[in-house]
Amino acid sequence: MTDKLRLGLVGTGRIGRLHVATLKQRVPQAELISVTDVNMQSAQECAEQYGIKQVAASLDDILADDTIDAVVICSSTDTHAPFITQAAKAGKHIFCEKPIAANLAAIDAALAAVEEADVKLMIGFNRRFDSNAARIKSAIDAGEIGIPHLMHIISRDPAPPPIEYIKVSGGIFFDMMIHDFDMARFLLGDVEEVYAAGGVMVDPAIGEAGDIDTACVTLKFKNGAIGTIDNSRQAVYGYDQRIEVFGSKGAAKAENVYPNAVTISTDQTVQQDKPLHFFIERYVASYQTELAAFVDSVLQGTPSPVSGQDGHAPVVLAMAALRSLKENRPISLSEMAV
Ligand SMILES: NC(=O)c1ccc[n+]([C@@H]2O[C@H](COP(=O)([O-])OP(=O)(O)OC[C@H]3O[C@@H](n4cnc5c(N)ncnc54)[C@H](O)[C@@H]3O)[C@@H](O)[C@H]2O)c1
Repeated sequence: MTDKLRLGLVGTGRIGRLHVATLKQRVPQAELISVTDVNMQSAQECAEQYGIKQVAASLDDILADDTIDAVVICSSTDTHAPFITQAAKAGKHIFCEKPIAANLAAIDAALAAVEEADVKLMIGFNRRFDSNAARIKSAIDAGEIGIPHLMHIISRDPAPPPIEYIKVSGGIFFDMMIHDFDMARFLLGDVEEVYAAGGVMVDPAIGEAGDIDTACVTLKFKNGAIGTIDNSRQAVYGYDQRIEVFGSKGAAKAENVYPNAVTISTDQTVQQDKPLHFFIERYVASYQTELAAFVDSVLQGTPSPVSGQDGHAPVVLAMAALRSLKENRPISLSEMAV
């Protein structure tokens, strides 16, 4: 392998284009050779916009290209597991967006193919690479806040996605809270029990589509800590992303991130602009760090920064949360087929 990692990317939608821009502009060790999408017009537009040399007719063509070392999978969730399997069989290293799949048999088959081919697989849990989350993690690991007792994650979107997206999203636990389940594991390790409550409070159409738009989950960790995650599809004051871990010697807390640090004070009120609008603005730096970590891990031959097992575990938590909501009782992870 040369000193650069040669990549192909499938899925030039919302996150795909962000990753194309990041790989082209901010990860010097990456060389993005080829893009493809089932919507060829989208792939063409993307290639023109970012100066990508090749538009492949399909993922198969990218996988058949011996000059390409790795693939970045950014297509819709239902394609992730089969595309991981195909890419592994072709001997390519793989970066795949979250979640791997909503069912464990599909995840297990994909992870088995990766193991058999002995290629690297990284799952796109970008929030681990956010500087606030990373600092909370280092405070916990260094014992700065003592033994963790409590964790709270607040994760609320500025506005719900279109109903068409909701219908194929897998539901709030798999689509949205999956990031928070991963963050909970990243910070405090394995979870042993999940208790979920949820409702439709933002838009009745979300309920008619079979999903909920508001949820709160209590977690019991194996290390004895307890935590909560709350999600809403609509925070009217903007993207609300906060974390607190409280321990025997103190607490580590990340507040929202704002476009500026200005407060406007008058005789009536003290005001601040709304937080950075949504995930693209809020987490832009984390996507760069994430993709650079993937490229480095392949070039240096070091372990995947977010492994296939890290992709499997939050899906089990999402399944347990859904079951808890339906059965209205706490679910022990030992009850889940893992
Ligand atoms: N990590 C994050 O912060 C983050 C953010 C957004 C989305 N995602 C994940 O990324 C994935 C894509 O989400 P999005 O918001 O970009 O969706 P999107 O609908 O904007 O883009 C998906 C693209 O995949 C293409 N596609 C679908 N099936 C395909 C196939 N068989 N072959 C080739 N291309 C195909 C579609 O044509 C579309 O262009 C989802 O799994 C989502 O969960 C992750």
